[in-house]
Parts: sequence; C-alpha cells; structure tokens
Amino acid sequence: MLPPVIAPSILSADFSKLAEETRAVDAAGADWIHLDVMDGHFVPNITFGPPVVKALRPHTQKYFDVHLMIAPADPYLAAFAQAGADGITVHAEAGPHIHRSLQTIRDLGKRAGVAINPGTPAALVEPVLDLVDLVLVMTVNPGFGGQSFIKSTMESVARVRAMVAGRDIRIQVDGGIDPETVKAASRAGADTFVAGNAVFGGGPGAYAERIAAIRAGAEGASGRDLSC
Ligand code: DX5
Ligand code: ZN
Repeated sequence: MLPPVIAPSILSADFSKLAEETRAVDAAGADWIHLDVMDGHFVPNITFGPPVVKALRPHTQKYFDVHLMIAPADPYLAAFAQAGADGITVHAEAGPHIHRSLQTIRDLGKRAGVAINPGTPAALVEPVLDLVDLVLVMTVNPGFGGQSFIKSTMESVARVRAMVAGRDIRIQVDGGIDPETVKAASRAGADTFVAGNAVFGGGPGAYAERIAAIRAGAEGASGRDLSC
C-alpha cells in the first residue's frame, strides 16, 4: 500500500479567508489540498471555479486535488489545469464520455481521477483504469460537507482495491472521514483521505492535531508500525 495522503477539503474552511486557511492547513501537515467544485446541477450546491483555484495557487506548494462535481466537465478541464490544478477528478456519472474526459486531463499534463457516487457500481471504473492515477469512491452523496459516512461504500472500496491490484493508482475516499471512519476506509483499501469538517471543525489551533489524528487512524488500520 502507498503511504497515506491526507487531503483537507477547503469546502469546510472559512470562505472569507481562503488563502489564510490554505496556508494554515499546509503548515499543519496537509499532504494535498482538496478543492470541491460544485455547479448546482450535477450536485445541489454551488461553490467556486477556476478563478478561486488560481487565486489560491501562490499560497501553497502542496498538490492541488481538484474534485469536479460538475456536468458537463469537459469544457472546463483546460481552465482548471491552467489555474493550477495538479490532479483533476471527474465523476463517471457526469456524462457519457468519461474516457474522453480522462484522456483530456492526461493530455493537459495533469493527473487524472475518476469518481463514483455511493450508488454507482464499482465496475464502472474498470474500463478506464489505464487512464487514471486515482479512483475516488464517494463515502457520502456529494454536495455538502459534514454528512455521515456511508458504511456500505466500503464494499466499493474493496472492489476497486482488488481491480487496481499492483497498479500505481491511489484509492481516495471523500465524505464523513474522521479519525474513526478512516480506519474502516483504510482497512477496505483506501490510501487517500479527504476530510472537511474533521479538520476544519475545531479552528486553526486544532488543524495539526486533527490532521495527525486522521493520519494515525489510517496508519494504524493499515498495520503500519508507527514507532519508526
Ligand atoms: C462532498 C465533498 C467533500 C466534503 C467532505 O460533496 O466532495 O469533499 O467537503 O467534507 P466532510 O469531510 O465534512 O464530509
Ligand atoms: Zn470532494
């Protein structure tokens, strides 16, 4: 298994000071910064687009993990790449041409991710595994932070883990991840953990401790020796 990646979602940050919040989670030990883009169409909420990604880019060197919950996605991929995304994840449910979307992301020189909602069969990602660096199994129905982790999604994580086998593909979970639920996700085979409320819920003074607690849960569950 790859070493765990903890990716705080700035969806749960204070939007009136996103740059400061991004710098704070960077300093607190975030591996990646997760950016949730919503369009009020594919999901019932609206967040931000490429200009906000671009505005945040100078404030951290960390990997920008852009999660597009938009349909269609293809017309906006280049704009997110130019804004400073390192990886772009598109939903398999967002349109009929997921293969083309993933090819486009790769052609833009970015790492490509495919996401599935809790109600989508894991088998849907199998035909595109050669085109992805990451599979995101949603552990809530996308649209809002602060929702409860859906346990049945662990079956999809396990299925994706089996499909991925030895390939260099990260398996990400997103939604309701905290120091407890991260253990089940890690045991099922996830190695990349998005967390919104579990990181930002306690204010900046607690970010480091909260990120460390999620990391410890992930490492403990995957059987890593924490003493070295
Ligand atoms: C859900 C988003 C998530 C969300 C996670 O639609 O994709 O990234 O912000 O937030 P928590 O960890 O609070 O469930
Ligand atoms: Zn997300």
